[in-house]
Amino acid sequence: MSASKSTSSRGLRLDAYLSRAGLASRREARILIRKSQVCVDGEVCRDAARRIHSETVTLGEETVESPAAHVDFLMHKPIGLACSHDQRESPLVFDLLDGALARRDLEIAGRLDRETSGLLILTTDGDLIHQLTHPTRKLPKRYRIQYKGELAVDAVEQCQAGILLGNDPRPTRPAELELQGAGKATLVLREGRTHQVRRMIRALGGEVVGLHRDRVGNFILPDDLLSGDLRPLDPGGRALLLSDKSL
Ligand code: URA
Repeated sequence: MSASKSTSSRGLRLDAYLSRAGLASRREARILIRKSQVCVDGEVCRDAARRIHSETVTLGEETVESPAAHVDFLMHKPIGLACSHDQRESPLVFDLLDGALARRDLEIAGRLDRETSGLLILTTDGDLIHQLTHPTRKLPKRYRIQYKGELAVDAVEQCQAGILLGNDPRPTRPAELELQGAGKATLVLREGRTHQVRRMIRALGGEVVGLHRDRVGNFILPDDLLSGDLRPLDPGGRALLLSDKSL
């Protein structure tokens, strides 16, 4: 598990501290705090926003171990699961987490559609989410596409020049389309608009029937991470994710 950065000098909110320690979801933590079950340095604390630095936190009789500052995971997302916390969209990628992991505040850095498979990053680190998704970073993401229909003869050039999609105010950023024959292609994007690959392929005359993300930055989805599995991201993997030198 990559435990990046120690808790900032502002400390960690008490509800986040309990949740990061894997003892409760944020919501459950707030309930426990309200029910006077949590002590800070031996005194009951009913303030979920109280910042914890080096104080001792106890839940009932148990001392809560200081949580690792952040955890990052990579997942091989299967098709059929939504990248959402909203149970109404069930089944969710978060259903694949169990035990203490399910109670951590994991968020998705760069969502995939329900019907898209491939590399997904889950993290408690807002900075990592920002770095992976902020448009100014222009971090490349590669998609393997299966499509039906005939793409425009100048599809590669159109992707390079930018395509105006629906009501979007600006054309897409330059993207590299590589045609691989028999309804197969790869597309490297440096932005992340909703359903962008599907919409670009539609604008070019085709229809996506299979979509898989296999690369983010210089990080390639490992062959031995099977569909539905996840594993901690090590610091080397994190560095590769954030680099874009050779794409
Ligand atoms: N583009 C899409 O159309 N869908 C995804 O899931 C990701 C990129």
